[in-house]
Amino acid sequence: MARKKIALIGAGMIGGTLAHIAAREELGDVVLMDLAEGTAKGKALDLCQASPVFGMDSHLTGGSVEDYTPIAGADVCIVTAGVPRKPGMSRDDLVEINLKVMKAVGEGIAKHAPNAFVICITNPLDAMVWALREFSGLPQEKVVGMAGVLDSARFRWFLAEEFGVSVEDVTAFVMGGHGDTMVPLTRYSTVAGIPVPDLIKMGWSTQAKIDEIVQRTRQGGGEIVKLLGNGSAFYAPAESAIAMAKSYLHDKKRVFPCAAHLTGQFGVNDMYVGVPIVIGEKGVEKIVEISLNSDEQEMFDHSVDAVKELVAACKKLDSSLA
Ligand code: APR
Repeated sequence: MARKKIALIGAGMIGGTLAHIAAREELGDVVLMDLAEGTAKGKALDLCQASPVFGMDSHLTGGSVEDYTPIAGADVCIVTAGVPRKPGMSRDDLVEINLKVMKAVGEGIAKHAPNAFVICITNPLDAMVWALREFSGLPQEKVVGMAGVLDSARFRWFLAEEFGVSVEDVTAFVMGGHGDTMVPLTRYSTVAGIPVPDLIKMGWSTQAKIDEIVQRTRQGGGEIVKLLGNGSAFYAPAESAIAMAKSYLHDKKRVFPCAAHLTGQFGVNDMYVGVPIVIGEKGVEKIVEISLNSDEQEMFDHSVDAVKELVAACKKLDSSLA
């Protein structure tokens, strides 16, 4: 059987980490693409030279985005091209630069890898994945944004620490846009199936402590930006995107919160926002319409409004999107 091909567009901190995981797990051959050709080629060569040590026949190559032909026929494209935040910046401050990057990347994918499953990571995520889909013209179910898996993983880790249990036994849900308005859903978060509100009743934690965790989750990315001082998180974002890629490549049909194109679900039309979806061989195979209570719906609507503003800003910046 032919090996799968994974194109990583953007070979920076997340792109390099994605390449490392994809090579170690032998998910397929990896093509790293970047504006900085040397970075892409250097990371690919470094990982090739690591492969005899970790014992995987991973083929990695690097290229410049001046010529997108190396991504031809890719099964999965993961997009991290663009600029990350600096301390004091919000994700929204990146719109202008990263929108131009999405245009170039979308056109490159449309021309050379139109059958790929595309995962966008570039921020501000919900607006960038929407724009990338528009620029590429690919089917909506083949283009998704990675944010909810990461936000939920942060929430899971904080909850596991608070309860003193394994991260493996904590499930958690974060919906909405990938920004400070995201909606961590405590009611749908559990330890081995026991919902967090029940755990509070059982004396495992207090509402005040859980509220603090919810807030820390919302600001999880900013906390890391501040600590790093130069760039943003990369290990957890890369792991999250790889989990999504694996669900597609192996037709696992995992249920993940991701930025998906909505056509009326949760009261949202023609926008990308974080919701639970099923990822399988067809891409986004299902949008899981869980019921929200009035407080949750209100928080979700508020988050959707923030994404709407960003999409409107994109339309203003590039008239082909209007
Ligand atoms: N085409 C291809 N690559 C590009 C382009 C472009 N038009 N513009 C910039 N790049 C490359 C940069 O050269 C850099 O190597 O994208 C890479 C981005 O890598 P980093 O700066 O290390 O950023 P990273 O931490 O990987 O984050 C990438 O993901 O989480 C988001 O907010 C984050 O938008 C940012 C993106």
